[in-house]
Amino acid sequence: MLLTTRQLFEKCYGRYAIPAVNVFFMEEIHGLFAAAQEADAPFIVQTTPFARDYAHADMLLSMIGAAARIYPNVTYAIHMDHGYEAHIFDAIEKGGYTSVMIDASHDDFETNVARTKAVVEAAHAKGISVEAELGVLAGVEDDLTVDAEHSFYTNPQQVVDFVNATDCDSLAIAVGTSHGAYKFSGGQGLQFHILEEIQKRLPGFPLVLHGGSNVLPEVIERINAAGGQLKTDAKGVQEEEVRKAIPLGICKINIATDTRLLWTMVNREFFRDRADEFAPTTPGKIFMEEYKKFMLKKFELFGCTGKA
Ligand code: G3H
Ligand code: 13P
Ligand code: NA
Ligand code: ZN
Repeated sequence: MLLTTRQLFEKCYGRYAIPAVNVFFMEEIHGLFAAAQEADAPFIVQTTPFARDYAHADMLLSMIGAAARIYPNVTYAIHMDHGYEAHIFDAIEKGGYTSVMIDASHDDFETNVARTKAVVEAAHAKGISVEAELGVLAGVEDDLTVDAEHSFYTNPQQVVDFVNATDCDSLAIAVGTSHGAYKFSGGQGLQFHILEEIQKRLPGFPLVLHGGSNVLPEVIERINAAGGQLKTDAKGVQEEEVRKAIPLGICKINIATDTRLLWTMVNREFFRDRADEFAPTTPGKIFMEEYKKFMLKKFELFGCTGKA
C-alpha cells in the first residue's frame, strides 16, 4: 500500500523507525521491495535530484511502480529527498511522490520558513507530506560539500516556531551525523542532549535523521582488499545510537552511503575473483541478494519487521 510519510509516522512514532533509502537503479529497487515483502516491514523509497538527473524521474518512478506490482504486499511511501523548488513543484504537478523534502536548511531562518511554507501549501493541497530541515549537516550531498566549520546543529530554541510557522509534517535535524562515508571523523557521535531538547519541545512530532548510514569497517576493509582506496577512518551511526534515537522521536533514518558501499564491495570482489566474467547480470544478481540481506538487517535494527 502506498502511503504518505505522515501516515507512516503516525504509526511508528517512539516505537520504531522507518528506513528511507536512496535508489538510483533497478537492482536496488528489487532488493528493497523483496526485503520489505519478506520482512513485512514499512519503508520509504527516495530519490534525490542527482538520481533524477542520472536515471530520469520517469524512469525511477516507473521502476518503483513496477516493483509495487511485482511485490504487491508492501507498505511504503515515495519520497523526494533533498528537493529544491524546481523539482518539487514539477513532482507535485506530475504526481508520483507521496512525500517531498524541501531542503532550505542552508538559508537563514526566515528564508527557510518562507520557502518551506510555500512548498507545504502546494504539497498539502495534493495530499503530499513535507519534510523540512533545520540545521546544517556536514558532508557531501549531491554536488554540495559542506565542511565541518560551516555545519551547525539544530537549535532546539527554534524548532517550535519553525514547525508552527511552516506546518511541515516532519523535521530533519542536525544532531551530529553527516552525509557520506566520512562521518564522525572527530569521533563525537550523535548529540543526544540536543536530540532530547528537541523532542521535549516537539513531543509526538516526527523527526528525521539524515546521514544514517552505519559504514561498517568490514565493508571498507573488503572494498580496499579488492583494490579500493577508501580511507579507513570512515565511521557511521552505530547500532546503539539507532536504538537510543527511536524513543526520542526519530521516525525516519536516511541511508544512501551504505548501499553505495555495498555495490562497490560486491562488484570489486566479483571482478577480482572472476576475471573471466563480463555479464552484468551475474554480479547484479549477487548485489540484489546482498541488498536484500542488508535491508532485512536494517528492518530488524529499526524495529519495523512485521509492522507493515
Ligand atoms: O543527501 C544525501 C545523499 O547521500 C545524496 O545522494 O546526491 O548522490 O543522490 P546523491
Ligand atoms: P548517508 O550518507 O549516511 O547514507 O545519508 C544519506 C542521507 O541522509 C540521504 O538524504
Ligand atoms: Na529526506
Ligand atoms: Zn540527507
